[in-house]
Amino acid sequence: MASTGVCHSDLHVLEGIDKNYPFPSVFGHEGAGVVESIGDGVTSVKPGDKVVLCFESFCGECENCKHTKTHLCKKTPRNNLQMDGTSRITCKGQKLSQMNSISTFSEYTVTSEFNVAKVNPAANPNILCLAGCCIPTGYGAVMNAAQVPRGATCAIWGLGGVGMCVVMGCRDSGASKIIGIDVNSKKFDLAKELGCTDVINPKEVNVPEKLAEMTDGGPDFCFVSVGLIPVMEEAFNSSHPQWGKTVIIGLSNVGETMKVGIWDLIYGRKLVGTSYGGYKTRIGIPKLVEKVLNGELELKKLITHRLPLEDINEGFKMLTTGESLRAIIDYDLRK
Ligand SMILES: NC(=O)c1ccc[n+]([C@@H]2O[C@H](COP(=O)([O-])OP(=O)(O)OC[C@H]3O[C@@H](n4cnc5c(N)ncnc54)[C@H](O)[C@@H]3O)[C@@H](O)[C@H]2O)c1
Ligand SMILES: [Zn+2]
Ligand SMILES: [Zn+2]
Repeated sequence: MASTGVCHSDLHVLEGIDKNYPFPSVFGHEGAGVVESIGDGVTSVKPGDKVVLCFESFCGECENCKHTKTHLCKKTPRNNLQMDGTSRITCKGQKLSQMNSISTFSEYTVTSEFNVAKVNPAANPNILCLAGCCIPTGYGAVMNAAQVPRGATCAIWGLGGVGMCVVMGCRDSGASKIIGIDVNSKKFDLAKELGCTDVINPKEVNVPEKLAEMTDGGPDFCFVSVGLIPVMEEAFNSSHPQWGKTVIIGLSNVGETMKVGIWDLIYGRKLVGTSYGGYKTRIGIPKLVEKVLNGELELKKLITHRLPLEDINEGFKMLTTGESLRAIIDYDLRK
């Protein structure tokens, strides 16, 4: 591994908000590195290849991988263990689960070739980890789930690593208004630099009322990159009443529900969710890395802190307090 990002999805699991996964576990699902060795039968990568680790596999052969309507590969286990219930990692004889089959909070990891996207060798793996989660998730929410047309009005709740990539997606789609919403005003300068035309702090104004006023009834597209159900409901209820589309990105525990008015749906509000921005990972991620290399996607601006692995808990602390935008572990840094 060369780098790994501290994403809020790791924090959700750590805090027990996302109870999908068995403990003990090695976390980390946003990483990049270099292939050190390969097993028998591996054909798509070779030692020395620069890769982004993918928390959704792409085998290219299953019914889903061949289908245009989904990116969820049937070879991705959903419980952090391998398909047969075993794990690739143990510690002192005890089985550890492997987050999303990749466990990037580790100097070395073993994974399937279906979970690594080979990328342009010109890319720097020491910062490329963000191409493993927040970039495809946020950018793809706009490009694939929402399909924002030129001139549309957009609002984004949560200007963290993921939300900032939503902002860049809206900017690149030619949205006429991009309204960033966050309880932490420290995020606003970068949000504006990346494309927000306006910013709102819910602590200062009534968000639905303000949005209705700014967008003539409600935004065409609402994106929620915060894992809070009341915020998801607020976004849906703020979207334009006849055609507004809300895209849920933030996570909650499995089985949790949000309240949606039937008549809102009947009259035209739409609600969708997205995982990984809808990209078929091994195809989509290398293309996003090209955008990073040619400067279209400003990856470096998202990285506010680079830490050695020993300080990973500091990274979680900064994510919790809102001090960091994205803290990453650079495996070349050692104490
Ligand atoms: N669907 C997916 O595939 C996918 C992938 C990655 C992350 N996620 C989820 O996306 C969410 C965002 O992840 P992140 O790493 O960017 O998190 P983050 O912690 O960096 O960002 C969240 C932002 O939301 C803000 N916020 C908190 N409460 C708010 C409120 N009431 N109103 C407005 N803003 C508020 C915070 O100040 C912060 O800036 C998390 O729930 C994460 O688990 C989903
Ligand atoms: Zn993530
Ligand atoms: Zn597949």
